[in-house]
Amino acid sequence: MTDPARRAGELRAALAEANYQYYVLDDPRLSDAEYDALMRELRALEAADPALITPDSPTQRVSGQVSAQFAKVRHPQPMLSLANAMDEAELREWRARAMRLLGADAPVAYVVEPKIDGLAIALTYEGGRFARGATRGNGEVGEDVTANLRTVGGIPLRLREPPAGGGVPDLPASIEVRGEVYMRSADFTALNARLAAAGEKSFANARNSAAGSLRQKDPTLTAGRPLRFFAYAVGPFAGVSLTSQWQTLQYLRALGFPVNGDARRFEDFEQVIEYCHAWMARRDSLPYEADGIVIKVDDFAQQRELGAVQKDPRWAVAFKFAAREAVTRLTNIAVNVGRTGVVTPNAELEPVVIGGVTVRNASLHNADYISERDIRIGDYVTVKRAGDVIPYVVGPVVSLRAGTERPWAFPAACPACGTSLERVEGESAWRCPNFGICPAQLVRRVEHFVGRGAMDIVGIGERQAEQFVTLGWIADVADLYSLTAERFSGVEGYGPKRIANLLQALEESKGRPLDRLIVGLGIRFVGSVAAADLANHFGSLDALMAASEAELIAVGGVGPVVAASVAQFFQRDENRRVVEKLRAAGLRLEGGAPRLRAGDGLAGKTFVLTGTLPTLTREQAGELIQSHGGKVSESVSKRTSYVVAGASAGSKLAKAQQLGVPVLDEAGLLALVGYEGPGAEDEEPVAGPPEPVPPPDLAPPTPIGGGQLSLEL
Ligand code: IVH
Repeated sequence: MTDPARRAGELRAALAEANYQYYVLDDPRLSDAEYDALMRELRALEAADPALITPDSPTQRVSGQVSAQFAKVRHPQPMLSLANAMDEAELREWRARAMRLLGADAPVAYVVEPKIDGLAIALTYEGGRFARGATRGNGEVGEDVTANLRTVGGIPLRLREPPAGGGVPDLPASIEVRGEVYMRSADFTALNARLAAAGEKSFANARNSAAGSLRQKDPTLTAGRPLRFFAYAVGPFAGVSLTSQWQTLQYLRALGFPVNGDARRFEDFEQVIEYCHAWMARRDSLPYEADGIVIKVDDFAQQRELGAVQKDPRWAVAFKFAAREAVTRLTNIAVNVGRTGVVTPNAELEPVVIGGVTVRNASLHNADYISERDIRIGDYVTVKRAGDVIPYVVGPVVSLRAGTERPWAFPAACPACGTSLERVEGESAWRCPNFGICPAQLVRRVEHFVGRGAMDIVGIGERQAEQFVTLGWIADVADLYSLTAERFSGVEGYGPKRIANLLQALEESKGRPLDRLIVGLGIRFVGSVAAADLANHFGSLDALMAASEAELIAVGGVGPVVAASVAQFFQRDENRRVVEKLRAAGLRLEGGAPRLRAGDGLAGKTFVLTGTLPTLTREQAGELIQSHGGKVSESVSKRTSYVVAGASAGSKLAKAQQLGVPVLDEAGLLALVGYEGPGAEDEEPVAGPPEPVPPPDLAPPTPIGGGQLSLEL
């Protein structure tokens, strides 16, 4: 039988190694089950003979007492803060000041590190063992949170022996390691979902969540929180010689600390600037929230020469990203009626600048979203704008309520035509069922019909569509072809030239290929790809109209969802009447699509669906994907091409963010299958398939100060 003491030692080493692979190398070699089995074995040995327990045993991570209060600790060396540079000009000023002090010819290298939004801590190691950990506090005095820090997976309880000849110093006699405790975005989302499900208070953002978790009075609670750590500096140390920041980062990594892999060293300041821009562009694809980039003078001797002004060192600066969240007042909720009658709520806001863009409106998704979050008119709300995504309301800031806020009820009737709204079983969207007549739907249908992907009628857009409908000139899209020069006479803004151009554009559109006309009809789920398949297969609108659902499904690339939608569309008298009017107007109702488009645009792609989509049921979305050659899978992995996420998406969305799998909303999915007329946009914000993000050094330089621009959304 193996010696229990030796076996315990092996197990401790194996578990520490697994931890290192997971948190530092980001390359786990043991499965969770294997890890648990080793842990169980070690626990059993230690239970049988408590003398085997060592303070750095992985079983001892949760070992501290519940404390009523955290003891205060004075930092042996103050923990400094950082001055901010808000744009490239300020970054250059920082460097110019440093060069004045160091001498214009001094060779200066820079280390650039991501600034993760968490909280700063200091960890003391004595004789290679974790002895004490404290929060930054005010920089002079922090709080002793040792027991809680022991539970953080990425913090080694015992330092690793740096490899001999690895170019880094040996183990230090003592060292204080400084860094950031944080939570990954995906872990934060999952934690909040868990807290909400348990009826507990959730956190506003990942930073608060990390801070709150670290300050739990009971370390077992902290142990259950997905906290991570990365090291970026040292405080006092003894028994080693460290001379630069870059060397320090290598050393910290060798001692077994997680060090951010995106840190870089540059000797050319222009490259520093380029890297900052590339980083800013990558912000949305990071697994954690970064609020900027820290730039440090590499050489410690130069750092000492530069010194500090009060708490801010002159040798470092934070290049800050513009905030992406803001709080503003919700003044009203307006509802929008889309082409197929879907009614969506939209927030009207007191204008607020978020990430350099003035935001006045934001998405509220659907009725459930508003009621679940108890969003009221007059509330201060948190508004978020991430990358290119349309801004959305996160939720109310309840503590700012004055008592005068009014709950909002989804209108019972269509704001445009007064028809009672209906809710389709299994969908979160309300619809105006007045399909043939509702003027708001008609305006959207006309916009879609004249759009570029459809009949491409130049000179008619949103404004004209609204005007023609309001004036009662048109009651369906076919009526566009009954417009005459006489109609326009005396109407403001329409001179003879403009009228002639408009009529000419209408005339020309009559010869558009059949697939474009099919797109123009605005059949739900029929975008350019499906329209081309249908046109090629049936060869005429008459044959398409006569096709049964079974015949439609037989078309390559057309699945049951599209087939049912097409059949339903042509069952309606009002749609058949429109087709007859188009025929009478002389439109081309025959011929295939000029470009042969196979319906397998999603071939080789794997999708995972999660949450409630605004208009599609889970089944419909799945069929849509399969009918375009894509696969639907249940679980998210690195091989997943896209995750399609709707409201209340949970762990699958979190996993996707963690793995960097692109996330689409429903509109993004529809755009991907070629259903991308203006109609898709006016029903739901389109996130669009995210662009793949190039690695930082390959990313094209972004114009500086891009985040400071004031655009209008
Ligand atoms: S260095 C003298 N490096 O930013 C430099 N700080 O505003 C002191 N932070 O309290 C810190 N990432 O919480 C440094 N790579 C990084 C950082 C970083 C995040 C935080 C840290 C600090 C604050 C300063």
